[in-house]
Amino acid sequence: MKTFTETCILWLSCILLFSGNSINAFTYDYTATTECLGEPQRAQYGGGIIVNPDFNQSLEAGWSTAIGQGNIEERISEAGNRFIVVHNRTNQLDSLFQKVQLEEGNLYSFSAWVQLSEGRETVAVFFKTTDGDLVRGGSVIADHGCWSLLKGGIVANFSSPVEILFRCENTKVDIWVDSVSLQQFTKTQWKSHQDNTIDKIRKSKVRFQVTDANKTAMRGAIVSIKQEQSDFPFGCGMNHYILTSTDYQNWFASRFKVTTFTNEMKWYSTEKRQGHENYTVSDAMVKFAKRNGISIRGHNIFWDDPKYQPEWVNSLSPEDLRKAAEKRLKSVVSRYRGKLIAWDVVNENLHFSFFEDKLGDQNASAEYFSEAYRLDPTPIMFMNEYNTIEYCRDEKASVANYLEKLQEILQYPGNEGISAGIGLQCRFGSGQPNLAYMRSSLDILGSTGLPIWLTEVDVGKDPDQAQHLEEILREGYSHPAVQGIVMFAGPELAGFKNMPLADTNFNNTPAGDVVDKLLGEWESEILEIKADDRGFVDALLSHGDYSVTVQHPEANSSTTLSFRMTKDIPQTTIDVQIHT
Ligand SMILES: *[C@@H]1O[C@H](CO)[C@@H](O)[C@H](O)[C@H]1NC(C)=O
Ligand SMILES: *[C@@H]1O[C@H](CO)[C@@H](O)[C@H](O)[C@H]1NC(C)=O
Ligand SMILES: *[C@@H]1O[C@H](CO)[C@@H](O)[C@H](O)[C@H]1NC(C)=O
Ligand SMILES: *[C@@H]1O[C@H](CO)[C@@H](O)[C@H](O)[C@H]1NC(C)=O
Ligand SMILES: *[C@@H]1O[C@H](CO)[C@@H](O)[C@H](O)[C@H]1NC(C)=O
Repeated sequence: MKTFTETCILWLSCILLFSGNSINAFTYDYTATTECLGEPQRAQYGGGIIVNPDFNQSLEAGWSTAIGQGNIEERISEAGNRFIVVHNRTNQLDSLFQKVQLEEGNLYSFSAWVQLSEGRETVAVFFKTTDGDLVRGGSVIADHGCWSLLKGGIVANFSSPVEILFRCENTKVDIWVDSVSLQQFTKTQWKSHQDNTIDKIRKSKVRFQVTDANKTAMRGAIVSIKQEQSDFPFGCGMNHYILTSTDYQNWFASRFKVTTFTNEMKWYSTEKRQGHENYTVSDAMVKFAKRNGISIRGHNIFWDDPKYQPEWVNSLSPEDLRKAAEKRLKSVVSRYRGKLIAWDVVNENLHFSFFEDKLGDQNASAEYFSEAYRLDPTPIMFMNEYNTIEYCRDEKASVANYLEKLQEILQYPGNEGISAGIGLQCRFGSGQPNLAYMRSSLDILGSTGLPIWLTEVDVGKDPDQAQHLEEILREGYSHPAVQGIVMFAGPELAGFKNMPLADTNFNNTPAGDVVDKLLGEWESEILEIKADDRGFVDALLSHGDYSVTVQHPEANSSTTLSFRMTKDIPQTTIDVQIHT
């Protein structure tokens, strides 16, 4: 068990905790770590609705064994910490369990510390309903010899008791468990975490101090504050239709300052026939973006899915593939050197391994990162995966596997200096998104300190599609580790059929309304504030560029200035003089 400051390893959680609120239902604990520790940390939220979360009482308080004949045993570490060991497991789900009541509409954040008697295995948490359904709530790769944090969650779409269980596929190992926590939040509380965090991480305080030429406070001066540009990159994918439709161009350029080309930079687009590269379309799109001050995420150098290679690539020998891939990487990275803010280097290399398999080289991804970085060190180099935070049943792309792969790439000799990023596609299906799991996963991924981008946000068709989109975008924007969001959507005219933002007449769809609402909300509105007796005007402003005009009713002149609010400056004072 650690002291508070020791557990407070993480940047922003500390700010949130120290800012005066004790932990209660209105604060969310973003603390997470990927470190494997000698002793587990204390249960978050004091365990929440879990009885006997730290096993400091006798086991009968709260806990039972489930499924097969696994035995539970209490143990005490050398440091005096009590925990539980499940041994003699014969079934994957042999585990201790606790029954808790879930309420429909609430969100539940789960965490626990786990360890194994030997080896290294995935341990997952499940919520077993009274119908026997097993709802997965998160997982971690647990080790022998130290404790790992499993963080996850569930959104209840039913009111019913559930049993919380741990699963490990390997029944030969004992599962050790400690510090189990399930904290319940209403939707209102969840939204208030988002709003509070947005105020802390996306805004800063500014004070204007208005005086005359003699440094006398100018009471009653009017300070008008207008945000010219937002710092937060909230953008949208685009495709080649943008080159031929001025309506699409206007629609896009009036909203977004960052983009990803959905297909046009991909290998299958730029080299349809071997040796005949054609960048006409991609170049024109880069030109359009530059002309309109839109930053570009490069997407992608390679895609590890065998289905999405240029046709001619499939029949190449390993040696010819190696040469062709080298040429491709050099060609596209050099062509757009200095013009991109990011590269998706090897797309979907958790789900697929086309290059690794064909080349017989498990280091292929790491080598491509290395080579891309050598040719253009400025873009952040991303992995880019689906299902990591949207769907916790997909173990291939689990948070733990994502981080393991990324670490493997970054530890590859020579790759240490790469500025890497975590790309999360966020291709949500239909139905209620599991925001509790999404947030926990972002906590863990964010504990690496690497920038996270939601790169291809898309939501399945559903009567509540627009609402789900809003929930997902708010969850991303309000998370301290998320540094950018790009949707893969657009006007119907350009073929965005799954989640069109504008219909064929460029009128907003409900999803388009959500996007415009959030664009408006995430920029500060135009403010006009009167200075108090001391000549002070205080405001909380979203990060970005501002222009300000200061006037006094009795003065015949005004002063204008521009300034920039960034996350590095939590508060600042700006002196303004007006001449009377
Ligand atoms: C709850 O959601 C899951 C997954 O979206 C779905 O399969 C299930 O039918 C839902 N249950 C209820 C009671 O709506
Ligand atoms: C500023 O100071 C000058 C000289 O002391 C004085 O003449 C003038 O009236 C002052 N102006 C104001 C606005 O107080
Ligand atoms: C390259 O692509 C453009 C756009 O598709 C096309 O118009 C042009 O003919 C192509 N150039 C060659 C040499 O194939
Ligand atoms: C992969 O890289 C590691 C070093 O990180 C090296 O030991 C290993 O031999 C490489 N494997 C191949 C197939 O190149
Ligand atoms: C205010 O400034 C304008 C333009 O410089 C000038 O024409 C006018 O006479 C001034 N008024 C006063 C009250 O000083």
